[in-house]
Amino acid sequence: MICDGRRRPSRRQCSGGVALPAGIAYMGAGSPAGLRRAASCNADFMAKITYIDSEGSRYEVEAENGSTVMENAIRNGVPGIEAECGGACACATCHVYVDEAFREIVGDPEPMEEDMLDFAFDVRPNSRLSCQIRVRDELDGLVVTVPERQG
Ligand code: FES
Repeated sequence: MICDGRRRPSRRQCSGGVALPAGIAYMGAGSPAGLRRAASCNADFMAKITYIDSEGSRYEVEAENGSTVMENAIRNGVPGIEAECGGACACATCHVYVDEAFREIVGDPEPMEEDMLDFAFDVRPNSRLSCQIRVRDELDGLVVTVPERQG
């Protein structure tokens, strides 16, 4: 079946409009080519996001476009994301480190987020507040690491 832009495609269907034979899985997550293919599909695409906690445990979740990386962490019980302000960019307790491969795609923080990051623990060049990262097709395969503790 071809991704027609109206239905939520499965991974196998979402290949930039080209139907894949049965048994062939979409393997693009995490690769630039795969990201480009995913970006060409519809707005209901589910992006895979991997959270790594401070102990090194991995949590893989399917995240809907338009939701935030913080919301998906909370919904799926990822430890270490507290999100005390509920996503209002007013607490810095949803701090994460964005994997270098996705840093440019995720982008830089806006000035208000940058100000809040001053209150976060162990801020690094790849620090972001996860409530300010909105899920979109291009973030399929995103990996973020949770710091040892929040602010
Ligand atoms: S949830 Fe409070 S700043 Fe992100």
